[in-house]
Amino acid sequence: MPLTIIIGAQWGDEGKGHITDRLAQGAAVVARYSGGDNAGHTVTIGNEIFKLHLIPSGIIHPGVVCLIGNGAVVNPAVLLREMDALAARGIDIGPARLRLSGSAHLITPGHMALDRAHERERGRGAIGTTLRGIGPAYADKARRVGLRAELLANPAALATTLAGHITATNDILARVYGEEPLDAAAILADYAALAVRLAPHLVDGPALLDETLARGQTVLAEGAQGTLLDLDHGTYPFVTSSSPTAGGAITGLGVGPRHVDRVIGVAKAFTTRVGSGPFPTELDGAAAARLRGTGENPWDEFGTTTGRPRRVGWLDLPILRHARQINSLSDLVLTKLDILSGLAEIPVCVAYDLDGDRRAGFPTDLAVLARCRPIYETLPGWREDITGARCPADLPANARRYVDFVAEGAGVPVSYVSVGPGRAQFIAL
Ligand code: IMP
Repeated sequence: MPLTIIIGAQWGDEGKGHITDRLAQGAAVVARYSGGDNAGHTVTIGNEIFKLHLIPSGIIHPGVVCLIGNGAVVNPAVLLREMDALAARGIDIGPARLRLSGSAHLITPGHMALDRAHERERGRGAIGTTLRGIGPAYADKARRVGLRAELLANPAALATTLAGHITATNDILARVYGEEPLDAAAILADYAALAVRLAPHLVDGPALLDETLARGQTVLAEGAQGTLLDLDHGTYPFVTSSSPTAGGAITGLGVGPRHVDRVIGVAKAFTTRVGSGPFPTELDGAAAARLRGTGENPWDEFGTTTGRPRRVGWLDLPILRHARQINSLSDLVLTKLDILSGLAEIPVCVAYDLDGDRRAGFPTDLAVLARCRPIYETLPGWREDITGARCPADLPANARRYVDFVAEGAGVPVSYVSVGPGRAQFIAL
């Protein structure tokens, strides 16, 4: 029975929370499969705004079980802070509702210190990471020296493994980067206390999902980041250290591909990116400020996790075609269409000019991408405020035309558009 995967089709921050929130209503389990608290998901319900980094947005729906899956990396201190903040707002975050896969990896202060040291050393070539320790935690996982969440249920093993990890990290911090060592005793004491609270949430994630699917219930795989931040399929090295694409959902949850019935790509009606790396349709000046917003609204283009202003640009169809191809998308959700209202004309990148040749696909070789110049088609805009639109007929003809143009250019149907941050500001097409 069905596993629905939600994927970011661009560089993250596409507004995946909106569709996740809607589909979570019919799901038994909502599961995160990759990344950690580098993600930021905003869900707006009435006047309440929930900003989540680690816990799946399904937690807002009573009765939905939320799983942090094998493929995720978890900073236990951040997880507990997020749990406490939700509990303070009356949301049940007990062990029956919030489950942590024992095979997920832990992020430590050592990983965060290394993330900072690596970025400092890269200087002008810095990736612009979120400094949450994501890369070093995944590097330790790949080196087979990581700390798995299952250690939280085993105080003696946690103490030994963590002590070894901090000693090794201090060695690198001192010898390679000339930095002060971390206080191992304080970290061990903190983690011992965190473990007591988190151990009851541990679960065999793949077994939980297998039982859920066997009962005929729906599992929703909630993506974080986006296709172009994927370690294998993104703009390497300006990527995160995990696999936010559909393949990553399969390995990150421990579910076979035969269960997947739908892969939903979420794309903004324009493009944004945080951190360094190429961005062919990037804008600056007044045009960028127009799309970014001022930062007064929580949905303006400033990072949920870092507060950094996002880089912004016009919609890029080669990127969406790349996302369709890598994830075998079944449909697209186009978010923030309302931000384009009032523009007289809206350019859309339909292909790239590569040394005089027209190229429809997205090259992930950065040297090639750097030579690509966007080829735009300009669509007519619309003046009307569409934030009150609730059905396709409420949209002005040019807004419909824009959506149809995107669907045709990306090669995948658009199933929903969002016209504002509210739960109701969502139109099924
Ligand atoms: P890291 O994941 O912290 O290692 O950061 C690597 C790159 O991914 C940086 O460019 C970050 O800005 C970007 N990144 C990581 N998570 C997100 C996200 O949730 N949204 C947008 N960009 C992200």
